Amino acid sequence: MTETSTAPETGARSARRRIVVVGGVAGGMSFAARARRLDETAEIVVLERGAHVSFANCGLPYHVGGEIPDADRLLVQTPESLRAALALDVRTGHDVTGLDTERRVVTATTADGVVELPYDALVLSPGARAVRPRIDGLDSARVRTLRTVDDARTLRERVQGGARRAVVLGAGFIGVEAAEALAAAGLEVTLVELGPHVLPPLEDEVAHPVTQELRRLGVTVRTGVAAEAVETGADEDVVVLGDGTRVPADVVVLSVGVRPDTEVFEAAGIDCERGAIVVDEHGRTSAQDVWAVGDAVVQADAVTGLRRPVALAGPANRAGRLVADDVVRPGGARPLPAPLGTAIVRVGELTAATTGANRAALTAAGLAFRTLHLHPNQHAGYFPGASQVHLVLHVRPDDGLLLGAQAVGRDGVDKRIDVLATALRAGMSVEDLIDLDLAYSPPYGQAKDAVNLAGMVGSNVLDGTLRLWYAQDVDAVLAGALVLDVRTPQEVATGHLPGALHIPHTELRGRLDEVRAAAAGRPVRVLCASGVRSAIAHRVLAQAGLDSASLSGGTLTLRAVLGDRADELLVTPAAAAA
Ligand SMILES: Cc1cc2nc3c(=O)[nH]c(=O)nc-3n(C[C@H](O)[C@H](O)[C@H](O)COP(=O)(O)OP(=O)(O)OC[C@H]3O[C@@H](n4cnc5c(N)ncnc54)[C@H](O)[C@@H]3O)c2cc1C
Ligand SMILES: NC(=O)c1ccc[n+]([C@@H]2O[C@H](COP(=O)([O-])OP(=O)(O)OC[C@H]3O[C@@H](n4cnc5c(N)ncnc54)[C@H](O)[C@@H]3O)[C@@H](O)[C@H]2O)c1
Repeated sequence: MTETSTAPETGARSARRRIVVVGGVAGGMSFAARARRLDETAEIVVLERGAHVSFANCGLPYHVGGEIPDADRLLVQTPESLRAALALDVRTGHDVTGLDTERRVVTATTADGVVELPYDALVLSPGARAVRPRIDGLDSARVRTLRTVDDARTLRERVQGGARRAVVLGAGFIGVEAAEALAAAGLEVTLVELGPHVLPPLEDEVAHPVTQELRRLGVTVRTGVAAEAVETGADEDVVVLGDGTRVPADVVVLSVGVRPDTEVFEAAGIDCERGAIVVDEHGRTSAQDVWAVGDAVVQADAVTGLRRPVALAGPANRAGRLVADDVVRPGGARPLPAPLGTAIVRVGELTAATTGANRAALTAAGLAFRTLHLHPNQHAGYFPGASQVHLVLHVRPDDGLLLGAQAVGRDGVDKRIDVLATALRAGMSVEDLIDLDLAYSPPYGQAKDAVNLAGMVGSNVLDGTLRLWYAQDVDAVLAGALVLDVRTPQEVATGHLPGALHIPHTELRGRLDEVRAAAAGRPVRVLCASGVRSAIAHRVLAQAGLDSASLSGGTLTLRAVLGDRADELLVTPAAAAA
């Protein structure tokens, strides 16, 4: 079909209100389903470039690794099931290649030619596409992105076809999930990340345990370096890294980020910011009767107020629903919430999760913050299976408003981050966390849950009862303060800061003169393993008139912040003897 020979049933302006949706997955299909439930009379046409609609993008890595063995399980709906249940006109293989907002017509290119569709309302949910950096050799057949069901099927086929070595370029969410999946399937995996650590949105404190877990799974983690070329060979490709390392690969996953898939709409005059469509609080674009949702749009961040794209399924699905309300019931729709960017990822036996702003975002926005670190158990310590949830919280110094939180651990991370995401959305302060009435019995939590404890620590910090020092400042502390290590001798032997004075916290009250003499007028910076005993010691020292502060998160956080440098800096008896 050509534009001029457009079939009348698609080209003519319909007597019914016609709503056209571009993109038939998370945001687009949530929109279409809700629009139908609100309006039985409208004609709703969904145009999807690919072969599938309503597929589970988020499940793709788990097919690659074989955890979801049947790729058809990822096809949540089909055009037929959507027609039957919701009377949606879903057209796959329709690539929207033009938009005329004056005439209110979209142009789609199909295998059979070009069609024009007039619309009364147009909803854009085209998502994002994989970034393809300028690297020689990316057109090799062994290089694949992971964005579609076909990508996942192809990668699975390579795994089942005997691929032994994989290189994953980019250790963002997709890269880390792909690396985990490929390692679980038995491949030798090298994960290459340009940034200083895997999962750049996570703080060092949370990313370091993830790196260790990836290594435990057998993944070689290379950070601070990018691929410069992929050399294609008959039997294998070789990925050449910036430092000259050559890594052979039977399969290469390209996951170095995404960019909004909006060229067509930007060219049509829709306001965009760095490629992302700018929308108002109801998802309306700069063009009359055109809305947009999902990975393709930019919204003001809930914490920093700075505009940024958020490429996550939950916000896309929920925005699709809210935009349907605005399209079908104008004036009555609730506004789109500002994104918090709550995200979670499994890596082997660990879970890492984040909500709200991280240190980099707060710094970029010029917002003051204090950081808290805690390592409480996810459930009663005496109950079998207790393990630590490593928590990082950022709070506003003057009133304790929650700004962001992250966590990593074996169990209970999802619950704590979801509680904290709810608290952030509710505009709570860290002190409000003390009062949260959370479910408790020994297999599930503690009478003072990890989140309650975060509130208590935060409250102490805000009112000055607890003064903290941070692992990031360790070099300055070593240069200008007395480090007082209040752990047991056995713990100290596992590694201690050079020059530290060791007095177990239980002996401190009787040995204050020793501390005073060793400090010789310098501040005293206390530490223990997690920050609990050093907080007790800090109270003793402060009330004895010493300038004291407790290491936030203790040596657990110190080791995570130092990363591989911990082995250089921390002194062990073996190292001291050598
Ligand atoms: C491998 C993977 C794992 C993920 N895991 C998670 C997760 O665990 N948690 C999470 O929150 N998020 C996850 N995401 C992100 C999540 O899938 C996206 O944020 C979400 O799908 C965005 O919804 P969307 O509607 O904006 O775009 P999409 O769901 O990507 O849908 C856009 C659709 O529009 C189509 N399209 C684009 N342009 C056109 C055009 N011009 N004409 C016609 N059709 C077009 C595309 O083909 C695509 O099918 C994952 C993504 C991937 C790829
Ligand atoms: N569990 C989840 O929540 C989940 C899972 C998968 C995807 N997602 C969403 O999908 C989006 C896309 O995921 P993604 O992983 O493609 O993007 P991403 O932006 O999360 O990660 C891309 C990574 O590639 C790195 N990088 C960039 N250029 C590089 C280069 N030349 N060499 C090596 N590394 C390079 C970046 O520093 C970054 O860490 C994410 O933003 C995320 O929101 C979420």
